[in-house]
Amino acid sequence: MSDPSHDNKTSGGTLKSPLFWIVFILVMGAVVSWLPLSIIAKRRFTTSDKPRIHIFQDMDQQPKYRPQAVNNLFADGRAMRQPVDGTVAFGDVQEDDHYYRGYAMTESEQQGKYQTSYFKGMPKQVTVDENFIRRGQQRYDIYCTPCHGADGFGQGTVHLRALELQQSTWVPPTSMHTDIVRDREEGHLFNTITHGIRNMPGYGKQIPVKDRWAIVAYIRALQLSQNAPVSDVPADVRPTLR
Ligand code: HEC
Repeated sequence: MSDPSHDNKTSGGTLKSPLFWIVFILVMGAVVSWLPLSIIAKRRFTTSDKPRIHIFQDMDQQPKYRPQAVNNLFADGRAMRQPVDGTVAFGDVQEDDHYYRGYAMTESEQQGKYQTSYFKGMPKQVTVDENFIRRGQQRYDIYCTPCHGADGFGQGTVHLRALELQQSTWVPPTSMHTDIVRDREEGHLFNTITHGIRNMPGYGKQIPVKDRWAIVAYIRALQLSQNAPVSDVPADVRPTLR
């Protein structure tokens, strides 16, 4: 006796077993699932002269000039513009002559001629207390000691070395304990630190304004240490002086 269902399958020849279809769908699924990956891979490794597909713009493209770019709108062709002459940076208005320069320029009787007058005393922006002078001492030790010496007499190591090398053009650093330097206005000392003087280089680039004033205060302390009038010594200590 023959099985009708079995007959059906073999005689028709078109119907396959369910297992075939499961395998078929799995294989096709595997093949199709590689399609997006291969498209992505192709896109990544081939070049195109068309812009890429960019669905969400999100203000990504904005007309602008990058640093150092060319802009023909301006005569000099530069996209980056120079600040207008006389532009002052925020918070950098250095109006106070005493504090920032140590001197004032006043027009003299002769038109167009200027004269410089140095300020006496410390500017109002600084308060001279022990901390301030100690700060000045520390800065002096860093910037000035190599030439002027820790005591200010001008026997710093740079000076001693120059003598050793017998440098014929060597100008010795001025002693802080001469009447000339003692009589200099505070503003003059400040300006010497800022711009240097004669053969001495300026230190304005390295030392901030406030520290320059601290050094000025310390120079005064140094000078006092070598040249104090007896009247400054407390009366009860005076007999012990030698
Ligand atoms: C590289 C060495 C050198 C260093 C560092 C130096 N000086 Fe001088 N300084 C000199 C020399 C040299 C002179 C004398 C210049 C001349 O007469 O041509 C001088 C002169 C001076 C004078 C006398 C100026 C006057 O009124 O005649 C003062 C004040 C002074 N220095 C202060 C300072 C202070 C404060 C510092 C530290 C911030 C400093 N110097 C750092 C070399 C130096």
